[in-house]
Amino acid sequence: MTTPRIAFDLKPSASPLGDAERDAVLANPGFGRHFTDHMVTIQWTAGRGWHDARLEPYAPLQMDPANMTLHYAQSIFEGLKAYRQPDGSVKVFRPEANARRFQRSARRLAMPELPVETFVEACDLLVGHDRAWVPGEGEASLYLRPFMFASEVGLGVKPADQYTFVVIASPAGPYFSGGVKPVSVWLSEEYVRAAPGGTGEAKCAGNYAASLVAQAEAAEHGCDQVVWLDAVERRYIEEMGGMNLYFVYGSGENARIVTPELTGTLLPGITRESLLRIAADLGYETGETRITTDEWRQGNADGSLTEVFACGTAAVITPVGEVKSARGHWTVGDGGAGEITLRLREALLAIQTGRAEDKHGWMHTL
Ligand code: PLP
Ligand code: COI
Repeated sequence: MTTPRIAFDLKPSASPLGDAERDAVLANPGFGRHFTDHMVTIQWTAGRGWHDARLEPYAPLQMDPANMTLHYAQSIFEGLKAYRQPDGSVKVFRPEANARRFQRSARRLAMPELPVETFVEACDLLVGHDRAWVPGEGEASLYLRPFMFASEVGLGVKPADQYTFVVIASPAGPYFSGGVKPVSVWLSEEYVRAAPGGTGEAKCAGNYAASLVAQAEAAEHGCDQVVWLDAVERRYIEEMGGMNLYFVYGSGENARIVTPELTGTLLPGITRESLLRIAADLGYETGETRITTDEWRQGNADGSLTEVFACGTAAVITPVGEVKSARGHWTVGDGGAGEITLRLREALLAIQTGRAEDKHGWMHTL
């Protein structure tokens, strides 16, 4: 049986900003600082399912002090981007993949699963109405933030019987203000992000709240980002605060490009998975393995490990230049952006911005 399509009630409004003000924002959007004119909301109630789908002006949400999310954190989100194409049209990168991950996150947090086609339709609707907010320059994009939270009021600890799904959008320039400048990372041996059986592979708000103290520790050590290790042995590399990691061994055509395998405690990044395919398309040998901190340090010391980079929707591909931990400090390669890192970055962005053939069918037309 196919799921009946949900009907959206459209309540668009004129933009409160004039063209000149919007263009000024788009010229320097930063990340997550400005929001478009509309949002999409859909409600879910036990026994009734999804209902009251609407597109409406972007506005604050009203919340009861006993809203269950504020107390017990049933809250999940996604992040994906819409890109301006050379012909002026707009396409979204792999929204079905985000929709499926959103369903997996929902299952882990005992929340209802939004049908994939409704998730995609909600994104399309928002981008369609707010397409003037999609930047037209270089790698800038419109970042979409679908999220869902419990909207039942009450203090009993249980899965809520009401939820609100929302999509908002924010024009995005580089996530790190330095552009493709390499970042420095702190290996967190004290704090862990996710343990086996926990919520590590779900994109839930609590994972990010739990990461902030380690991020602050990284900053105290002069590092830009934290790198998480496995919770059990504290020696396998997992991922970064909002990005997956890649390790490049060797150079040129014989380079081998590997990423930590998905053990259930790291987020299965859509950029990570796309890069496995792009790297293979470019003829590189790829792999998903477990990598220890000692292998990282040793690989850098003997020169076999040539490049390390982080990847994710917000940060695209960002080189890692320097590593610090309680037990030492080392530089990756020459500390700059590696050749293969930049080649993969360009290959991914070329597909997203419509400058290269989309042979995997990743670009979704509104
Ligand atoms: N890991 C974490 C913890 C993240 O928050 C993200 C960002 O979404 C990623 C990895 C990268 O995932 P994706 O490439 O799907 O954006
Ligand atoms: C994303 O890349 O979408 C992220 O989730 C990273 C961060 C902004 C949370």
